[in-house]
Amino acid sequence: MSKDRKILLSGIQPSGRPHIGNYFGAMKQFVELQKEHETFIFIADYHALTTLQNPKELKQNILNVAIDYLAIGLDPKNVTLYKQSDIPEHMELAWIFECLTTVPYLERAHAFKDAQAKRSEVNVGTFNYPLLMAADILLYDADVVPVGQDQKQHVEIARDTAEKFNRVYGETFKLPQPMILSDVSVVPGIDGEKMSKSKGNTIPLFAEDAEIEKCVMSIVTDSSGGIPKNVHEIHTLFALDGHRPTSLSDGARLDDFYAQNEGKYKILKEALIEDIKTFIRPLREKRKSIAEDKEAVLKMLKEGGLRARAKASAKMEEVREKVGVKLY
Ligand code: TYM
Repeated sequence: MSKDRKILLSGIQPSGRPHIGNYFGAMKQFVELQKEHETFIFIADYHALTTLQNPKELKQNILNVAIDYLAIGLDPKNVTLYKQSDIPEHMELAWIFECLTTVPYLERAHAFKDAQAKRSEVNVGTFNYPLLMAADILLYDADVVPVGQDQKQHVEIARDTAEKFNRVYGETFKLPQPMILSDVSVVPGIDGEKMSKSKGNTIPLFAEDAEIEKCVMSIVTDSSGGIPKNVHEIHTLFALDGHRPTSLSDGARLDDFYAQNEGKYKILKEALIEDIKTFIRPLREKRKSIAEDKEAVLKMLKEGGLRARAKASAKMEEVREKVGVKLY
């Protein structure tokens, strides 16, 4: 691997089925950038424990995310793919960061504030979540972290934490940059709110045709009779980067198609259904064939874990020396 390639790192939580918000907001970038970067993509299974405490479901979700990563086109020859829990150094470094970080600083994190607004008793893992994420990123000297807008503050916390550690113990960590694509930074769900596994407003990335129809038909439309904003915003995703929606005649632009069909929600939704089906079908087929060889997927994940651990443990040795616990 060439030394001058920048290091790209990101992950997703195995907390449910990935959706098109995860894909366009983050996962698509992993695939597009995997060759020009030294790429680390992982499954944040310990992060998922903050909300999912069902071992059977978690196990299945972890395997599913590994299959999903392969199905979207991540190539284990280019990418180190692993699960967080295979690298205990993540948790070790998180503890060291916890000792450097103040409670009021973490109390300002949006994700914590949202959790607190929803539940009266928030677990400590949810509170400390950004520091485990900082460890995930900083252990690998990541330069860029492709994420959706909702994770921006977490990457900033990782930067702050790196700066703080470097100030106290001397230059050790690189400051990572979030990479957020402005046109997909927040993908709306079928209710117009941010698409999110926890809100039940998703279009799953590997949805079956019938599911796609059901999701699109439930997209909330305004009653003003104009352009249905949520339908249009979701449709735009499928027209990105030269993907030509099959619903459009030659040379037509998506916006013209919407202008011509103002108020005709059924026509617009049917066109969106067609475009999503065309987009998802090959991904879904590929996913099914990968899922047939579970052992190969597990082997790939295990090998990725060994590669990631080699890098993480070398960095952790340096950290132990810096903080003063390494005597031999
Ligand atoms: P997670 O699992 O919630 O989401 C995975 C990725 O999808 C993005 N995303 C979205 N982007 C646009 N529109 C949406 N509606 C939308 N919903 C989700 C997220 O921003 C994310 O990039 N904390 C992370 C996982 C994580 C991580 C890391 C990421 C743990 N450690 C280190 C990067 C680096 C999370 O919960 O993502």
